[in-house]
Amino acid sequence: MTKAFKTLDDIGEITGKRVLVREDLNVPMADGAVTDDTRLRATVATVSELADRGAIVLILAHFGRPKGIPSPEFSLSQVVRPYAAVLGRPVRYVDWEGATDAVAMLQPGDIAVLENTRFFGGEEKNDPAVVDRFAALGDLYVNDAFSAAHRAHASTEGLAHVLPAFAGRAMEAELDALEKALGAPEHPVAAVVGGAKVSSKLDVLRHLVTKVDHLIIGGGMANTFLAARGVAVGKSLCEHELASVCEQILDAADKANCIVHLPYDVVVAKEFKPNPATRTVNVHEVAADEMILDVGPAAVESLGDVLKNCRTLVWNGPLGAFETPPFDTATVALAKTAAALTQDGSLVSVAGGGDTVAALNHAGVANAFTFVSTAGGAFLEWMEGRELPGVAALRR
Ligand code: 3PG
Repeated sequence: MTKAFKTLDDIGEITGKRVLVREDLNVPMADGAVTDDTRLRATVATVSELADRGAIVLILAHFGRPKGIPSPEFSLSQVVRPYAAVLGRPVRYVDWEGATDAVAMLQPGDIAVLENTRFFGGEEKNDPAVVDRFAALGDLYVNDAFSAAHRAHASTEGLAHVLPAFAGRAMEAELDALEKALGAPEHPVAAVVGGAKVSSKLDVLRHLVTKVDHLIIGGGMANTFLAARGVAVGKSLCEHELASVCEQILDAADKANCIVHLPYDVVVAKEFKPNPATRTVNVHEVAADEMILDVGPAAVESLGDVLKNCRTLVWNGPLGAFETPPFDTATVALAKTAAALTQDGSLVSVAGGGDTVAALNHAGVANAFTFVSTAGGAFLEWMEGRELPGVAALRR
């Protein structure tokens, strides 16, 4: 089947060609060490393939938000060594000053990381002068950074218009998985949406009720919906001012035949700290001095039954305050059910965004999902039904 975008299979002979590869090397670091190398590992397929095919691989990436002001704190030079270790190949570092000469010295199969693209103020403005400066270094452009594709920047969008442009292997895998999950999914489709605040995911919820058959709401967000339904949620995290917005979303779900699942039993505590005294209660029994910190076991069991009848699952956000024990229980239990159903072949499961990858890693099931996206903001924008500029620019 012809894909909607060109991939490395369409690129032809590339020995000695300079390929500008946009990757997302925006990894968390502490004391000079990378604390989560998921994004570095996601680049290996594309970068290794291009190098093995004889290309001169020039990696473009941002690191943090330096806002056009170069500084050592935001230098990609500190990522080069850990990156080389992940790739298992030598990686050169190329500063913007003297970049043209440095690139001219590279040989087929060489890999270099260029300095932070955001050291140019025009990168984030998609300034044609910056696009041209990048483009002058390469013959072809490969975008492999889905997690930065919600930005219409020179290195994520502009370059696709001035050089022959292709999706890298990680980008291709993301787009294929997302298409299976929400583009043309097998029904019934369930979505799990958790996290602290409804306000940060309003557009996600509005879009999902038109797309999925079951919307499972957890986390602090569920409290806001429960309160909108007249439930007293005590001291729980809750955006009371969004009651009417929640009502609108529930009405829209009704009209679209989307069943919204809110917890009917919950785990509560008077203090938010590791292992406090807890009670498991019906949502109507939360005391004024208690807060809801996790979905209860009866609700988790029935949510598991919902997933058993579904063919597709999209997951974003934890069901409870999963970083503080024992409020990881519901997230871990439902994630394990989803993973088992995926392994049995009855469910296509796609997860991504913010805390989600950490929650699934914590549950030990990230590898058992069909696909786990490395993207944060980009995954959310995709869940809102928006076309991402970096993806749009790659379309044939
Ligand atoms: C991310 O960390 O989600 C991406 O690298 C995008 O970074 P940004 O939010 O600074 O654009």
